[in-house]
Amino acid sequence: MDAIVLLKDDHKTVEKLFKEFEQAGDSAYKTKRAIADKVIEELTVHTWIEEKIFYPAARAAVPATTDHVLESVEEHHVVLWMLSELAGLDPKDERFDAKMTVLMENVRHHVEEEEQEWFPQVRSAMGRNQLVELGEELTAAKPGAPRDPLKVPSARE
Ligand SMILES: [Fe+2]
Ligand SMILES: [Fe+2]
Repeated sequence: MDAIVLLKDDHKTVEKLFKEFEQAGDSAYKTKRAIADKVIEELTVHTWIEEKIFYPAARAAVPATTDHVLESVEEHHVVLWMLSELAGLDPKDERFDAKMTVLMENVRHHVEEEEQEWFPQVRSAMGRNQLVELGEELTAAKPGAPRDPLKVPSARE
């Protein structure tokens, strides 16, 4: 599968979880905890493979998008810290829903920028073969990716 298709699939998986969260009842604490845990895992793995493999390759292929790469890493930084806070937060805590809401706003903004502005430039610069190769690398890296958000490089930089 080509790298950009794979990353967009991840975005769709996360958006589906966000919708489920928004539709869960206020007091559906177990459901909201379970969804948040899935979001934490999905986004930790996703940001990891982007930072380790896709972002460096994209930056090399389209040097003009360097500012975009750097901003994206800063956005990951914020998201990863929010994920780490959500991991330890009781869903009954009054800040839980608020934190999820702001997380979802941040991620949706980030995904829109990746998909609308940046990925199309990477696609035209790289071409099909390189994208497929990169997609294979991303797939292979997923099982070994950390599940702790603070283990993703940008969380600590
Ligand atoms: Fe990203
Ligand atoms: Fe992404």
